[in-house]
Amino acid sequence: MAGRGSFSNKLGFILAAAGSAVGLGNIWSFPFEVGAGGGAAFLVMYLIFCFILCFPVMVTEIAIGRKTQLNPAGAYKALGFKKWSILGLQGIFSGFVILSFYNVVAGWAFGYFIELLFGHFEIGKQFGDFTKDVFKVGSYAMVFMFATAFIVSKGVAGGIEKASKILMPTLIIMILGLVVYSLTLDNAMIGLSFYLVPDFSKLTLSVMGSAMGQAFFSLSLGMGALITYGSYVGKGDNIVSSAAFITLADVGMAFIAGLMMFPMVAYLTDGTMEGAGQGAGLIFTVLPGAFESLGSTLGVIIGASFFLLLSFAALTSTVSLLEVPVAYVVDEKGVRRNRAVWLIAGLIFVIGIPSLLSNGYSGFFTNFITYIGAENPTSFMDFAQNVANDTLLPLGGCLISIFAAYIWKTKNLNEEIEQGYPGYTGSFVQKYLNFAVMFLCPTVLGIMFLLTFLQTFFGINLF
Ligand code: PFF
Repeated sequence: MAGRGSFSNKLGFILAAAGSAVGLGNIWSFPFEVGAGGGAAFLVMYLIFCFILCFPVMVTEIAIGRKTQLNPAGAYKALGFKKWSILGLQGIFSGFVILSFYNVVAGWAFGYFIELLFGHFEIGKQFGDFTKDVFKVGSYAMVFMFATAFIVSKGVAGGIEKASKILMPTLIIMILGLVVYSLTLDNAMIGLSFYLVPDFSKLTLSVMGSAMGQAFFSLSLGMGALITYGSYVGKGDNIVSSAAFITLADVGMAFIAGLMMFPMVAYLTDGTMEGAGQGAGLIFTVLPGAFESLGSTLGVIIGASFFLLLSFAALTSTVSLLEVPVAYVVDEKGVRRNRAVWLIAGLIFVIGIPSLLSNGYSGFFTNFITYIGAENPTSFMDFAQNVANDTLLPLGGCLISIFAAYIWKTKNLNEEIEQGYPGYTGSFVQKYLNFAVMFLCPTVLGIMFLLTFLQTFFGINLF
């Protein structure tokens, strides 16, 4: 297949897929979603979604990818269901939307690396001014998109694997170190109990809906990214154990990011936890203050390296986001890989401009839309997140399971999983996966999608 690489070994695929999953979703959006969702109640829902509902979808995506060796849209067609390639196109569209705002946040992370390198800890208090400085932030975002396109243009094996191997473990070690530090801070226990002791009265439909969206977003599911990556997996590899590793790595990373964040929030707010629900600015307003408390030299070293590593974690995710549409036009439209990469990267950068402007610079994009029944307007960037993460990805996950169970048929799915997993047939894993793909995912995801969609955008509360 023209321009198609392949992972050099099983570890290469796992690291790249884990690199796709672990990113801003774990360290930037997970803590702010927990904060906005009332703490531990959100965490509990998130864990349920990841392990019970998303894991089977992940196995299914990888299996479809390996079976067809194609991009999402081509995969449905190759299995003989041409009409379903619209689901692949929906995934490709989701990837466009996600990468457009994700790249802006990645630009913030990269910008914070530079600010902290110069010891500018005050940036935490000036986050609003920082995001408003669209020329500066826009340049960082442009550098970021350029780096993403460069890596993708080098092909799968060459670029993605190398970046994942060294930097992810370094980031994990650093966050673990910061967890230890943050647990020694004053009021740490208040932060910890906010994060770990659930208050189920906070569990509303919208909290459940955001936990679902966050689970899909964080695991890179529901849009075919793992169909695309699965297409590079060898037939001898065990899809289930790979998916289990990716899920555990991703959830583990988000979990420790929370352990790091909430004691810091408690420390910086004298235990009031005020601002924990502020939204997208959470890590950007909190972390610089916490780094400053390490002293000027250590603060600069840890602070700057933290944001540099976060930028790399974001890069292994942006690479997978760009890979989805690129694989599509390379496979389906016969466009040369290099040309596809640069054209699509440029296009997505342009689509991201409203998100860039929607954090204070432009009143129009900052107060972009007021949902029916809502009190406050939603910015363009939040709107894009609501559409992609909370709506399109869970819907994609629901439809992918329906496709696998009833159109492609569970028997074929099982046959694909069996390769590389000899004891699969008749095992508990098989029974659970089949039950999930046939019944659990279509119903729970379908109902949740409908309820949250109506509530978020139309203020209709059926629950
Ligand atoms: N999972 C990534 C994160 O948590 O940062 C974001 C992402 C990457 C979503 C790739 C979807 C995707 F296809």
